[in-house]
Amino acid sequence: MPTHIYRPVAGLLIALSLSGAALASEPDKAPPHQAWGFEGPLGQYDQNSLQRGFIVFQHVCSTCHGMRNLTYADLAGIGLTQQQIAETAKIKPQPGAPDAAGQPTMRPGLPDDHLNSPFPNDAAAAAMMGGIAPPDQSRLAITHPGGPDWLYAFLTGYRMPPPADAPVVPGKFYNDWVAGHMIGMPPPLMNGMIQYPDGTPATVEQQARDITTFLVWASDPHRNERHSIGKAVMAYLIVLLALAIAWKRKIWKRLKTQ
Ligand code: HEC
Repeated sequence: MPTHIYRPVAGLLIALSLSGAALASEPDKAPPHQAWGFEGPLGQYDQNSLQRGFIVFQHVCSTCHGMRNLTYADLAGIGLTQQQIAETAKIKPQPGAPDAAGQPTMRPGLPDDHLNSPFPNDAAAAAMMGGIAPPDQSRLAITHPGGPDWLYAFLTGYRMPPPADAPVVPGKFYNDWVAGHMIGMPPPLMNGMIQYPDGTPATVEQQARDITTFLVWASDPHRNERHSIGKAVMAYLIVLLALAIAWKRKIWKRLKTQ
């Protein structure tokens, strides 16, 4: 084989064997598919689920994870009023200007503040969390392989007690859906640990579904607008097509009868 052909083939073989090696440490099956309302070219987020998802983020995930791409003001996108936004921001203190003696201070949060990590930096977070910092959640739903189906499987995939043959690693928890089945994040959801104001029972599955919807929204907040424009464009094109057919028929009718 000439070398100029041989090289790409060898490259491909190496890439294939590397991806095979990477897959070997992943959970063996793909996460089960869930029916998500936001899927597909016309899918829309369910606003109630987004608001419940934010409650889960605010009460649970945000105690360890940040979502830095988002400001509190952006929560208008899930239907929070300006007053709700101001109240929500206020309860998360932010670093303020140094005082007269140059000492760091804290101030109440403002709508323009970002949903910052509760830790001062990643090294501090890693030190507190047994070695690995909780990743920022801004784009998690897009960047993590498996997307929303994996997030849901992962959040509902802790096993307590772990299977009898699982290794015991201090500070790590058994989850069906992470590589090596061990993760430093304790199971974050429990049945009924929060109360939803709309009365929806807060089961682990429901909370997982709502926080996943919120994480997908955070990574792609303009999907509803885009899909609504898509629908309007399709309707416009259908009308245009009907007119074009009618016009064509009219012209050809005249040609045939003359
Ligand atoms: C007590 C702190 C804590 C809480 C609360 C918490 N996490 Fe985590 N999370 C972590 C840590 C630490 C890691 C990194 C663990 C590791 O990789 O071993 C992590 C990692 C993750 C990962 C990445 C896992 C992977 O394999 O890549 C996801 C997704 C995640 N968390 C989602 C969430 C969601 C959603 C919530 C809220 C329902 C939440 N976490 C609440 C500490 C926390």
